[in-house]
Amino acid sequence: MSKFIVDGGSELGGKVKVQGSKNAALPVMAAAILTDENCVLDNVPDILDVRSFLSILEYLGATYTLDNHSLLLNCRDLKLREIPAQMVRKLRGSILLLGPLLTRFGKVKLSLPGGDEIGRRPIDVHLDGFRKLGAKVKENSNSVEISGPRLKGNLLVLPLPSVTGTENLVMASVLADGVTEIRLAATEPHVQDLCKFLQKMGAVVDGIGTSNLTITGVKKLGGAKFTLQSDEIEAVTFCAAAAATRGEVVIERVDLSTLDAPLAVFREMKVGFETGTKPDGDFIKIIKPAGPYQATKIVTGVYPHLLTDEQPLFGVLATQSRGETGIHDWVYEGRQGYLKILQSMGAKVKFDDIHRARISGPTELHAVEVKTPDLRAGASILIAALVAKGQSVLYNAEIIDRGYERLNERLNALGARIKRID
Ligand code: EPU
Repeated sequence: MSKFIVDGGSELGGKVKVQGSKNAALPVMAAAILTDENCVLDNVPDILDVRSFLSILEYLGATYTLDNHSLLLNCRDLKLREIPAQMVRKLRGSILLLGPLLTRFGKVKLSLPGGDEIGRRPIDVHLDGFRKLGAKVKENSNSVEISGPRLKGNLLVLPLPSVTGTENLVMASVLADGVTEIRLAATEPHVQDLCKFLQKMGAVVDGIGTSNLTITGVKKLGGAKFTLQSDEIEAVTFCAAAAATRGEVVIERVDLSTLDAPLAVFREMKVGFETGTKPDGDFIKIIKPAGPYQATKIVTGVYPHLLTDEQPLFGVLATQSRGETGIHDWVYEGRQGYLKILQSMGAKVKFDDIHRARISGPTELHAVEVKTPDLRAGASILIAALVAKGQSVLYNAEIIDRGYERLNERLNALGARIKRID
């Protein structure tokens, strides 16, 4: 178990580069299962979830090297083996193995990753979709078994736009017989990256970036080289950290086209920023504030609206804003845990129900000793600890390593004072 010891009160300044997207890396690595050939992925974040996913692929027989954010992955010798439950449970993203393993082997059995701190995480959208493609699904509380030696294209209307559900169904369709139409599909940038990678492998996917995907099955997919997009949630994390500490930071290598909704919220909160484009990507400069930030409404939606993963990063900024900020996040029933921790740090929070809360500010935050609850809550509490007076301790800091590469070191390079103890 690792911990972060954080001395609060420093104002962040300088420049930081955003890494490749975690939620794009996982489905794109899963898609490599669909070919015997080499896949070369650039801008891969060297984070715990990526390493855990690669360990599973290696356990199944894949070979890889990950050096300097470049991944060479080959799944030619993959064998269908039952993956130990403790490997599957290391990351929720292991659910992404279902679609490609089913396609490759005609059957798959997987322990279920289960719910977590943020909520129940059901997978009915994935399983109903597999059934409509002709597969048979057997479920119990711990595992799922799917068999579908010949998947056949169909019309899939998703009851809700599940991100990994859409990704799994796309991966199950690209080599199926005939045409699959996925309506009300998720459109997140990471779903788009998966579809673009599959296109490079030879798949026929139309409608990328819309909620209506049409996939025409092909006979075979080949290897491909692909650069993952920048992580939009990490970009928002650094923006929120800079703003909350009232600093001035240039966040480089972002993709502005994925950031309309969070930038609109920063604007509403009167966080000053400039944006621009350089040869290696776009940038956002958070400008040191002259006055207080303003309360606003933070409402999560379906992309391109604000992502639920971005919500806790705004919640901490709301504690430093004048007035009452309303937060409404419909996605998970456990996404308010971080607000209870902020409350214990001095924030004024009223809970209306499990999806809605109000934060009044500005308030001074004081230090806290706390177990890191989940990835995004962890990032939010880490930012709160940077703002707070005194020394905070975040236990289980490796939860933050699941999705952020060396976040403590990169914040320290901006002037934070975070000591890591492993
Ligand atoms: N849902 C169902 N049935 C399903 C699937 C989802 O009811 O079969 C519900 C969920 O309970 C939730 C909503 O639909 O209320 C959205 O869930 P979704 O399936 O889209 O989530 P996910 O695919 O499991 C991905 C990200 C999460 C992110 C969500 C929502 C990856 C690997 N994970 O999860 O990322 O919160 O989409 O945007 O892409 C994170 O990065 O910290 C993280 C948790």
